Order: sequence, then structure tokens, then C-alpha cells
Amino acid sequence: MASQTAKTILEEMTIQEKIGQLIQLSGDFFQNGTAAITGPLKEHHLSLETIYTAGSVLGISGAERVRQVQTDFLKHSRLKIPLLFMADVVHGYQTIFPIPLALGATFDPQTMHDTAAVAAKESAAGGVHVTFAPMVDLVRDPRWGRVMESTGEDPYLNSVMAKAAVNGFQGKLPLDANHIAACVKHFAAYGAPEAGREYNTVDISEWRFREQYLPAYAAAIEAESLLVMTSFNTLFGIPATANQKLMRDILRQELDFKGVLISDWDAIGETIAHGVAGNLEAAADLSLKAGVDIDMMSFAYAKYLEKAANLDEHTKLLIDEAVVRILDLKVALGLFEDPYRGLSVEREATTILSSDNLHVAEQAAEKSMVLLKNESVLPLATDAKVALVGPGAHTGDLLGSWSWQGDPQKTSSIYDEFKSRFKSVEYAKGCGFHALNYQELDQAVMIGRDSDVIVAVVGLPSSETGEATSLTQLTLPTEQLTLLKQLAALNKPLITVVLTGRPLDLTAVAAVSSAIVLAWYPGSRGAAALTNILTGEVNPSGKLPMSFPRHVGQVPIYYNHYNTGRPISQTADDDENKYLSKYVDAKSEPLYPFGYGLSYADLAVEQLKVLNPIVNDSQNLQVEVTITNHSTISATTVMQVYSHQLVGQTVRPVKELKYFERLSLAPLETRDILVTLPLTTFRSMQSNLQWQVEDGDYTVMVGLDSDNVLQQPFEIRANNKRGQE
Ligand code: BGC
Repeated sequence: MASQTAKTILEEMTIQEKIGQLIQLSGDFFQNGTAAITGPLKEHHLSLETIYTAGSVLGISGAERVRQVQTDFLKHSRLKIPLLFMADVVHGYQTIFPIPLALGATFDPQTMHDTAAVAAKESAAGGVHVTFAPMVDLVRDPRWGRVMESTGEDPYLNSVMAKAAVNGFQGKLPLDANHIAACVKHFAAYGAPEAGREYNTVDISEWRFREQYLPAYAAAIEAESLLVMTSFNTLFGIPATANQKLMRDILRQELDFKGVLISDWDAIGETIAHGVAGNLEAAADLSLKAGVDIDMMSFAYAKYLEKAANLDEHTKLLIDEAVVRILDLKVALGLFEDPYRGLSVEREATTILSSDNLHVAEQAAEKSMVLLKNESVLPLATDAKVALVGPGAHTGDLLGSWSWQGDPQKTSSIYDEFKSRFKSVEYAKGCGFHALNYQELDQAVMIGRDSDVIVAVVGLPSSETGEATSLTQLTLPTEQLTLLKQLAALNKPLITVVLTGRPLDLTAVAAVSSAIVLAWYPGSRGAAALTNILTGEVNPSGKLPMSFPRHVGQVPIYYNHYNTGRPISQTADDDENKYLSKYVDAKSEPLYPFGYGLSYADLAVEQLKVLNPIVNDSQNLQVEVTITNHSTISATTVMQVYSHQLVGQTVRPVKELKYFERLSLAPLETRDILVTLPLTTFRSMQSNLQWQVEDGDYTVMVGLDSDNVLQQPFEIRANNKRGQE
């Protein structure tokens, strides 16, 4: 429902002013606080007048700068319509949290919520009104660099995290000055580019799209995300940005999305290269018809909508609808009451990088790190003589991509933290991320020889994650493998810490390491968090949100796959039978499965009891799970509940996550946990593209990872209840 403010302003607006609201400009158009058209910006042929009608700008922040730009803008705006400031606040503003994939590894929606809330508070204090987050694309191919921005391969985990992020950014609506509007992206299915190649074609069936890809976007929209961003890719044969079925039928009608739909950067213009628009004028027309309200940086709307509106009443109507949605967003942000949203340099200074915020970052990083291997060498005693090596050991490059306001120079390195925590630390780089010189290597080997334990921090530089960083290889660069092999030959405990924004093939690393800790890009307090984990001050609890392959040839690899007509049995028989769905040169399973992550404690699911093995339509499935901590240290883990439907109208995944819970267990504690799963949890997508809970046989499984589970049968008798009783 349009607000009265929006309706009143709309009546006053000229067609140029209306179209202006639909234009988003980059920060380059505002230099020294005023509108400017200099250098390459000239080629867009925009007038200063047009710039002063623009609805929004991206990438400008800082209390003083935003105040200046807004003041100047309002001076020039005939109707005094404030400018909207948008930015990519993806995993923190200046306090940087672990990358979203790492936040997925916490399996903790509270952590996702709290990090988003801090990011909102800091960026609101820096003048940002809208963040281009959360990114909730389902991802299953680590060749694609943007897997780091998602929470992983599972629709349920992604949905829970999507909701938590939106709630964290926006708070309880209406928005207050400490919260900002969320923009869920990239609608839709950007996470499934063929061959993992950036911007490549996405072509999945609508059935699969609806069952697995759509739920996380739907969850974010249900949580009232105020904006949605289109994706670069095609879906069902048409680029998302020009896709009426996707945007009008699915997003607007089915999901009932009432907010603002913004294109991705130049995505309207790119419909030309995709080959569905002959020129920019046609691109503008297609995108407006598809329902795209804001044109981010293609200038198609700026150049052609006025002409279209003069020709066509329907176009005028579509423009009005878009304008009202944008004005309503400005109303929701309170910009007509205070175009600065309480902005001040003092507020900015006290809010940003506060010790409370950094504490949230440290705890999030602790929860996100995943212990992949431990041959009883961790935790480390602080009086151990440590040799610290590797290209990631003495760098502030721990923030990861999409942290434009974070400062690696001011981020303490692992070496800095080690120095303050261990009695004796020697450091040598050993090699670069992609470079090896024998002097550096020898130095590392020398300090390794003289130590009790070697900690090697390896991985990829953050420039090799994020947008436009597709890879064909998922192994550690050979220079770093050479370093690890040389160190392993010393026969000392070798603890490998991996910095990465994507699953890697760690087969060779596992072969030489006594322990592996996956640190991701852990953010502003990542080095401290890692040190807490390595010293045992904190017991690791992170779990993999994506499967880690044993070879790049296995990807896309994910736990919730279908069975095929010739599934492997994971027994010795598999070797005997050639005609199975398998590889002949490698195992089919991943190296580390979804949900996997060790603890320093010995934890086990002891028992799974189904309390009501026949579930009828008035019931939930209830199971009781017994988990024991067999160790004398306390621990936190993630209980994971999966199910499988034995026979369905459409093929069913071998396992699907239905519930998870982070649990802290005292030393030697045994705990019984009651889990209640509503019947709708077991819905499946039918061939008619409708959800339905089908009667029949199911299995419920519980584990501390997706592979190692206890299982029990149950039956659903809901639809044909009477007939079966
Ligand atoms: C990315 C978006 C991002 C936008 C604005 C694009 O290249 O795909 O995720 O929000 O740039 O920075």
C-alpha cells in the first residue's frame, strides 16, 4: 500500500523527476560533496540536472561526506526528495566479520543476526541506508568465486540464515536509525553458473529451482526484506533482469514481494550482450516490464524511459508504480523527516569499531572455524616452541572480499596474536601465495627444525575470492604444497591453518598435516579467534556449510543429491560393479562432507528414538536424541537432523537437513533433546510445481555431520488417513 507521502509527491512530479528516482548512480558522480561529471563519466551523457533528480547512489559513506552530498542534493532537488545511499555491507562495515560462508559454518542464526545488526549499526552511523545483502544464492560449485558470499549448499540452512540476516540488518520494522534496509540478492539462482564460470548461463529445471533455490529468497522476503536485487544470469532461457515470469509472476505475485527491485550493476545493459535486447532502449523496456524499479548504472532508464513514457500509457503506469515503491522506501527509512537519519561525526566515532562490536566479531570467528583433522596435536600448550610459517601468517589480509571499509593494515595478523600468547614464536614466511624462493623456504625449514610444533598458514589471498574469481583448480598452489611437504619431512607436528573463501581440494594437505583448521577469512578479530582455538581456550565448533571435494572433477558435489538408478552402496561391492554412478579413478564421496567439523572433545550421538513412528495430520514428528560428551572438557557442537523420503512422486534427495541446533555440553554430560518437526517440514516439490507432504515411508537421521548418522524409520499418514486406519 502506497503511503500518503508517496502519493502526494507523485502528483507533483514531472516525468523527468519520476524517471530520476529510478536511476542509481555510482559515487563517482558526487565529488567533493557536489554532483560532478568528469573524466569517463562524460561518456554517459548525463546532465547535472538529471543527476540532481537521481533516486539513489551507491558506494558513498562516511558521516561527513554523506551529510555534504545530501545537503547539496536537497538544495538542488525541486521537490526536496532525499537521496538514498546504498552500499555493499556484506559481512561488516568497518568491524569485519567472517565471510558469509564462514557465518554459515557457525550454524548459528543468532550469530548471523548479531553480526548483521552490528553491520547495520555501524553503516547507519556511516550514512548508509540500504545494504546489498544478504546474498542467499544456493551454491554447490566451489569453482565459482562468489560461494564465499553465501551460506552454502543447503536450502534449509540458507533459509534460516537469510531470515536471521534480514532481521539483523532491519531490526523490527519500522526501521529505526540504527538499522538499514536489506536487499536480498541475487534473484535468482546466480549460484548455479555452468562450470562455475562467473556470469555464465544458469539452466535448471523449474522444479529444481523451486525446491532448492527459491526457498532462501522466499525466507528473506517473508522476513520482509525491503529490497531485492536481480541477478546477472539467465534462468529459463531469459536473463533474470528481463524475466517477467521470474519477477512479475514468481517474485511479485507468488512471493508477494512489495518492496523495491533493483538491477545488479549494468544488468539492464547486459541484456543486450545476452542477446534478448537489440539495444539499450529495448533493454530498458524489457526490464521495466519485468518489474525492475531501479537501474543500477546502465543508464538505460535515464536515456530511454522518457521517450517510452511519451508513447505509451502503460509505461507511464509502470514508472509510477516503481516511483511509489522507491518513495515508500524513503518513507520507511524516515528520510522525509530527517534526510540524515541522525548522522553525526560523533555518533560515527563512538559506534564504529567499538570494543563490543569487535567482541561480536571475535566470537563469530571462533564459532565459524572448522577443525577438519586432529591427530591429537591440538590444542597447543602456550609454552610450546612454535614455528609460524606460511604466506597467511603475518598479514592483515584476513578480511576477505566485500569488506571495502575494512582495513587490513589495522587488522592484527596471526603472528601478532601468537606473539602475545605463546612463550616462544619464530616466524618465517616460507613462500608467497603463488611464489617460492629457496631462501624463504630454507628459513622456514630451519625454524621448523628448531621447534616443538609448526603452524603453517596457507590458502588463497582474498583477491582470489568473491566476484569474478572463478577457478579451474581447487588444490593449494604448488608453491605452498612444496612448503608443506618440506615441513612435514621434519617429522614434527604440522598444524595447517587454511585461509579460503571456498571449498578446496585438501587431499594433499591432509596427507601431510597432523591437524587442519579451516579459518576461512575470519575478519577483524580473526587472528585472535584462531589463537583462542589453537590454544584450546575455545573448543572448535564450526561445521562445513559446503562439501569439500577430494578432486575438482567431483564438483558440483553436495550432500543432498538424488540417488540415481544405480547408486553406489559405499561398500566393497562398489569396486566389483562397474556400472554404478561413480568415478573409476577416484572415490565418489567428498573428502569432508557437509556438516562436518571436529571438536577437541569426544562427542557422540548415542541414541535416536522416534516417539511417534506413525505421523498423522494432526501431529508433528517427535524424536528424542541422546548426545554424550565423553571428555572432561566442555564442548559445543551442532546436532543435525536429516530426513529421507523412500518413495516420492518426484525423486528425493538421499538426505535433507530439516533441523539443527548448537548445543553446549559440560564435561561428561549426557543430554536428551526433544526435537519436534512439523509435518510441513517433509513437503516435497511435485511435478505440478506445487509443494505437498506425501504419505509414505521416511527415515529420520541424526548426526554431528551429514555422513555419520543414526537413523530410524517413520511413516506419514496424513492425506489418506482414514483409508489407512
Ligand atoms: C555485484 C553485486 C553488488 C553490486 C554493487 C555487482 O557487481 O554482483 O552483488 O551488490 O555490484 O556493488
